[in-house]
Amino acid sequence: MSLLAPAFSPLALLLIALPAGAQTGSGGAGQQLPTLATSKGCVACHDIDARKVGPSFREIAGRHGGQKDAANMLTGKILNGSVGAWGPVAMPPNKAMGVTDAEAKQLATWILTLKSPADASRKPSGGNRDAR
Ligand code: HEC
Repeated sequence: MSLLAPAFSPLALLLIALPAGAQTGSGGAGQQLPTLATSKGCVACHDIDARKVGPSFREIAGRHGGQKDAANMLTGKILNGSVGAWGPVAMPPNKAMGVTDAEAKQLATWILTLKSPADASRKPSGGNRDAR
């Protein structure tokens, strides 16, 4: 048994190090970025759990997950861009980058699936920390 340890350790380190650097890496809880998000360039500014230029996809899901028309609203924002919802940095219209209506809808729907249990238990009365 102890014979395996020296061979295993470097491999384990490699496995830990890889996702952090890989553009197509998975986000935290076993979730994977869909091919569309990488092929359409969303990952230049977004990640599942980490803030980059824009908010993390999970934050977006946490904020809009309970809203009635969230998928349609986010589809429109993905296509036409957004500014002021999360901060002063604007998201350019992704339509101009070749994202179609159907693709935007697909991405918006996927983002909304990321709503985590942690978000659900967060009290709305806690204030909108992310609003500014
Ligand atoms: C150049 C950087 C950039 C790219 C590329 C980009 N985004 Fe964004 N995105 C942002 C920023 C910045 C915001 C916050 C805008 C705001 O505050 O209104 C944002 C906000 C969003 C929101 C939330 C809107 C809201 O009202 O909460 C969604 C959904 C989103 N992006 C999806 C996408 C998808 C899907 C793609 C790929 C097709 C993409 N973004 C590509 C920068 C980007």
